[in-house]
Amino acid sequence: PEPSWSTDADVVVVGSGIAGLSTALGYVRRVPDGTVVLLTKDRLANGSTRWAQGGIAAATVADDHPVAHMQDTVLAGAGMCDPLAVHILATEGPDALRGLVEAGAAFDRTPEGELELTREGGHRAHRVAHAGGDATGAEIQRALTAAVRAQPRIRVLENALALDARTGETADGGAAVCGVTLHTADADPGSEVGAVRARAVVLATGGTGQVYSATTNPAVSTGDGLALAARAGARLRDLEFVQFHPTVLWLGEGSRGQQPLVSEAVRGEGAVLTDTAGNPLMEGVHELGDLAPRDIVAATIARSMAATGDDHVLLDGRSFGERKWRHRFPTILKSCRAHGIDPVTDPVPVAPAAHYSAGGVAVDTSGRTSLSGLFAVGEAARTGVHGANRLASNSLVEGVVFADRIADTLAHDTPPPATETPPRGRSGLVSPDTVPELRALMSGRVGVLRDGNGLRSARESLAGLVGDSDGTAPGPEAWEATNLATVAAMITHAALIREESRGAHQRADFPEADPRLRARPSTLRLTASGE
Ligand code: SIN
Repeated sequence: PEPSWSTDADVVVVGSGIAGLSTALGYVRRVPDGTVVLLTKDRLANGSTRWAQGGIAAATVADDHPVAHMQDTVLAGAGMCDPLAVHILATEGPDALRGLVEAGAAFDRTPEGELELTREGGHRAHRVAHAGGDATGAEIQRALTAAVRAQPRIRVLENALALDARTGETADGGAAVCGVTLHTADADPGSEVGAVRARAVVLATGGTGQVYSATTNPAVSTGDGLALAARAGARLRDLEFVQFHPTVLWLGEGSRGQQPLVSEAVRGEGAVLTDTAGNPLMEGVHELGDLAPRDIVAATIARSMAATGDDHVLLDGRSFGERKWRHRFPTILKSCRAHGIDPVTDPVPVAPAAHYSAGGVAVDTSGRTSLSGLFAVGEAARTGVHGANRLASNSLVEGVVFADRIADTLAHDTPPPATETPPRGRSGLVSPDTVPELRALMSGRVGVLRDGNGLRSARESLAGLVGDSDGTAPGPEAWEATNLATVAAMITHAALIREESRGAHQRADFPEADPRLRARPSTLRLTASGE
């Protein structure tokens, strides 16, 4: 749709989790008269960040070191990490954490006033800082939201869904992104479809969990930034590496949508995974036992469930006692009890669910995508720090470290101005009615364990859903459904062409990692057929 109003800013940031808020704050801090328009499709505080539990990883203490953090990240990433990006993450992580403390985020402290640190899967050291026990993301979101609200040069548009990149031509004839079209459900600024013109667009739209039936992600995580970037012609990478969190509260057959997370920090503090008969699951599987990297734990659980026919396994934290549950894991204790499960006296039923997209819009270490003027940060970006499987608690820190680098780039090396060219027409919209089926397809055939036949049939069925959508009327639900369909097709295609098992991508028909495929990342561009 053509916009009926427009506004200008130096930078438009799309998304309001840790990565988007940090980019906006970092830019206005560096550029004294700089302006940002920040779009968020829900309310400012309602992204994924506020659901993060376990914490934020950074080597901040004397018996840890950024090199050790790097090593654990690279090992978890199963051969697919970009060493430079990981080096940046590990060495700039401690400053990022200090920046959050300065912004007002109150992390848990020891009686001596030091950060209280825990462990999670794949970490060989205590380096995960947390807040409110298991409410780390909520505290960070609170502090950054307050900072953004207090900054008059960041204009926030809530209930504003970014639709498409606006593109133009620079003086030297190059193509560049120079703004976005958006739909706003609010009466102000006055009309439903508008445009923000800017020298740079930063996609900080988070993840894609809502393409699956069961996910830890909130309803807003529909991959909008990935779909927008793909339509604009940007490169995307590593989308097959969908991380499934191993321990998501199992609420019974047919549970759909966002499911309660049971943090890996629960295992970090000593809880043990067993099958429903009480047999330990992780013994002898990996040297780190219950704290093996997440992909290994999720795949072990999925294989155990396939072998026993059970639809869940158990997480036994009874050794903690009530006091520790209350102090360390108040959020999890509350959500378990709200569902009639008492982790103090009973093992908690858990199963894997979609949690994190390790791939995304391909960026360099300054957050630049393959299109001039378009940047991506946080879960929407593929920086190369996660490789084939993200190390626990590396996502919050990635969001801050790379947001700072984008802010620096924009402050010192602003993309050239571009004269806008008429927007390209969009192909058909996907009907919101198809979304439940799309999610069932993805969970059934593009889940923790995959194979070629399932992936091929998922691809065909997904194409069929799109084909069935003729005549869908435009509107926020249809635009989101279209984004979900685009992302689902890209994940499925990437999973099909990676003929090996590596990290979070486990194929029954190619059960081993193929060393030749390490150097061959699956890079995608959207074609007319949606792949
Ligand atoms: C958790 O607390 O287990 C989630 C941490 C993460 O996804 O990094």
